[in-house]
Amino acid sequence: VAQEKINTDIVTLTRFLTEEQSKHREATGDFTLLCHALQFSFKSIAYYIRRASLINLSGLAGSSNSTGDDQKKLDVIGNDIFVAAMRSSGKCRLLVSEEEEECLVFDENPKARYAVVCDPIDGSSNLDAGVSVGTIFGIFRLADNAQGKQEELLLPGSELVASGFTMYGASAQLVITMKGSTVNGFTMDNALGEFILTHPNMKLPKSRAIYSVNEGNSLYWEEPVKKYFDSLKYPAEKGGKPYSARYIGSMVADAYRTLLYGGIFAYPADRKSTKGKLRILYECAPMAMVFENAGGQAVNSRMERMLTVVPEHIHDRSGIFMGSYDEVQKVIDIHKKYQ
Ligand code: AHG
Ligand code: MN
Ligand code: MN
Ligand code: MN
Repeated sequence: VAQEKINTDIVTLTRFLTEEQSKHREATGDFTLLCHALQFSFKSIAYYIRRASLINLSGLAGSSNSTGDDQKKLDVIGNDIFVAAMRSSGKCRLLVSEEEEECLVFDENPKARYAVVCDPIDGSSNLDAGVSVGTIFGIFRLADNAQGKQEELLLPGSELVASGFTMYGASAQLVITMKGSTVNGFTMDNALGEFILTHPNMKLPKSRAIYSVNEGNSLYWEEPVKKYFDSLKYPAEKGGKPYSARYIGSMVADAYRTLLYGGIFAYPADRKSTKGKLRILYECAPMAMVFENAGGQAVNSRMERMLTVVPEHIHDRSGIFMGSYDEVQKVIDIHKKYQ
């Protein structure tokens, strides 16, 4: 048998972060250390998700969070892992998590310059069925005179210095982007215990005939949203082909597929959920940054650029449309006709 070609010069996430750091002469290494702590929390959450059915981690925790979701046991454990990793990194001053009512302030690290936002387990309703879920994160750099107050985190996504997510699927996939930079994807190699750069410089296809939305909400959709999805399903031109529908119900998994294959993901605001469902700080903004840096677009239900939306409180929600540049442009254009 022929010998497998062995790559002896692999780019791990650790190496990638070190190389990024060396590009910035003023860098102190704090951001790199924060990312190392993040990376550990992803490995750890991946491990417990894989073992959930074996060690009685499936099902509900019996509590609900501040946005009204019933918490799964793994929502609570994923949150605890994330919080411990951020606290012990020594580089995180403020932490907003979906599972924490208030912003956590780490007074033991008064000099820490970063604020982190996270959805520890996204798609947790899918957990017990073994469907892909994920962790979403965003990192803000606090102002030099920051007091460590929750209001200091009510920032638009355009202020994020980095964001991304990890999807726990057939393998764990980590996607990360930094301000004004490219999007890079890493795959967890369980044998090495490292995330390996497998998807450098990710770019969304400019268009693709796939839409991803919970159509069970269509009764409540506003007119332009109905018209838009109808236009995909019933093309105006004779012989035109309708779009394919794909909806997992885990935003991270739907977003990851959209990033790779193209198309559009939407969770619109509607007459029942007038502010939408997904939360601005730790779901919409980090994803919008990834999509824009990969050449796509992300807007809210008022067709404003998602990254300019400022949350009124830490768990504030928004409608969202994100995906391939041309696909999102179609939604924007249909909405314009209705103004
Ligand atoms: P989370 O599990 O973090 O609370 O997020 C749930 C979100 C998101 O993952 C997904 O896109 C959406 O809820 C699915 O909502 P529906 O079940 O209403 O379609
Ligand atoms: Mn939830
Ligand atoms: Mn979520
Ligand atoms: Mn969640």
